Amino acid sequence: MAPTRPQTKQLKAPDEPVPLLSQEDATVIFVLGGPGSGKGTQCANLKKDYGFVHFSAGDLLREEQDRPGSEFGERISNDIKEGKIVPMEITVQLLKNSIWDTIQKEGVRKFLIDGFPRKMDQALKFEETVCPSKFTLFFDCPEDVMQKRLLKRGETSGRADDNEESIKKRFKTFVETSLPVVEHFEKEGRVVKVSAVPGPDEVYEDVKKKLEEWGMKPESKK
Ligand code: ADP
Ligand code: C5P
Ligand code: MG
Repeated sequence: MAPTRPQTKQLKAPDEPVPLLSQEDATVIFVLGGPGSGKGTQCANLKKDYGFVHFSAGDLLREEQDRPGSEFGERISNDIKEGKIVPMEITVQLLKNSIWDTIQKEGVRKFLIDGFPRKMDQALKFEETVCPSKFTLFFDCPEDVMQKRLLKRGETSGRADDNEESIKKRFKTFVETSLPVVEHFEKEGRVVKVSAVPGPDEVYEDVKKKLEEWGMKPESKK
């Protein structure tokens, strides 16, 4: 009698996730650190000297929140104020679109993904569907230092979450949800850790030294 089950062994599962880009197609560096540790500040330096395109997940979420007609605006706004992690489907899709647009329009293939992944599900989804990261640049900073910086930034940032109440919630989320992501990558030997306590110039010197250990040099020195 003919077999009734289809011979599917050699077929690829149709929903098997495939990243949009491989590590050969693009260099992706995740940039993590607590709120106010100086991620954005150091990304600006790296953008200038190394030719990276810089995407801050928080900035993309705030843009989406303010986009007229966005179905996610209210959800994002509430999560940001409460220091919660926005559902990863939203953030991963925003990053994916931005990365793809940049490659199409500018041909640049070096990306700093700042403030991401803040939760394990974001890390797994991004590496499965967008691109595996080269490593995570982690800015290590005690809470009292970060709090001082955030309160100072709050004097002019206009951000809904640079206030004492939101900062407390953001720190809790960072410790409970984001640090495990750093620990996960650390186990894989894919974390570059830098102390974020000294002044910005000193921190950047350390960043440059550590990137060189990974074979990355400023563009002007190539
Ligand atoms: P993040 O993106 O990690 O939240 P930012 O880069 O926005 O942090 O920095 C938070 C605040 O601290 C900003 O006002 C920035 O100017 C300031 N800042 C950044 N790095 C340092 C540093 N190394 N020393 C002192 N202040 C800093
Ligand atoms: O990185 P930034 O401090 O700008 O992020 C602001 C807020 O955006 C976070 O506290 C969080 O509510 C949200 N966010 C997120 N997932 C990310 C990055 C930011 O939910 N990967
Ligand atoms: Mg930032």
